[in-house]
Amino acid sequence: MPDSPSSGPDVPTLSPTDSRAYWDRRHRRQDNLAAGGHIGFDRGTNAMLYAVRSARLVEVLGAANDVVAPLRVLDAGCGQGLFARTLGSFGHTVDGIDTSTYAIDVCRELAGPSESYEMSALVDWQPSHLYDAVLSIDVLYHLMDDDEWASSVENLASLVRLGGLIGLVDHDADVARVWAEYQKTRPTNQYRDLLSGCGFEMRRSVRNDFRTDPSIMHVAVRVA
Ligand SMILES: C[S@@+](CC[C@H](N)C(=O)[O-])C[C@H]1O[C@@H](n2cnc3c(N)ncnc32)[C@H](O)[C@@H]1O
Repeated sequence: MPDSPSSGPDVPTLSPTDSRAYWDRRHRRQDNLAAGGHIGFDRGTNAMLYAVRSARLVEVLGAANDVVAPLRVLDAGCGQGLFARTLGSFGHTVDGIDTSTYAIDVCRELAGPSESYEMSALVDWQPSHLYDAVLSIDVLYHLMDDDEWASSVENLASLVRLGGLIGLVDHDADVARVWAEYQKTRPTNQYRDLLSGCGFEMRRSVRNDFRTDPSIMHVAVRVA
């Protein structure tokens, strides 16, 4: 969920390097829920936010698992692993990537047996396998550079197997907007166009429906 916006479109925005430093600092300084959740919420409210959103992941991925052939899921921009560990607890096999060394250290310390974590930017991740599902939760609207944002979406899309799905969180909006130096939301049609060029069909938009949260997960399936 984006933190409360306080600024307009003319705000100076962080470079990719400064943005990564911002997030590593935030992970070190904030409690683990506020670091990746809403910085203005108290701990209990962020716990509710994570609980609601974990249920949304069941909606997106389906309420089934398979011990012999578990779903292989990428949590791209996993932060301290709150969603990745939840997905692991559902019986899925999870890779988590993030640019924050602190967050990845925490993830590795707390990792369950079916989870694996690496330091990587979305744009750079090149695993040796494809995924049944690639999820990126509250990350893409923190990429301030438009080229890095587009290349990140394209790279994540390339990691999904045919018939697999991608779930990308942003606002449901008609226009791009800079909210703060570390937050830029992009319109739904930009996601649709990019994903369609990568062989995906948009299937649904899953709302958090938590308080006034305007975020949605764009869910698309790879058809080509
Ligand atoms: C709002 S937090 C969300 C964390 C996690 N998905 C969650 O919802 O708890 C944004 C995360 O994106 C990570 N991040 C920012 N830019 C990134 C990039 N280019 N590649 C990978 N991770 C990035 C940050 O380090 C941070 O952990």
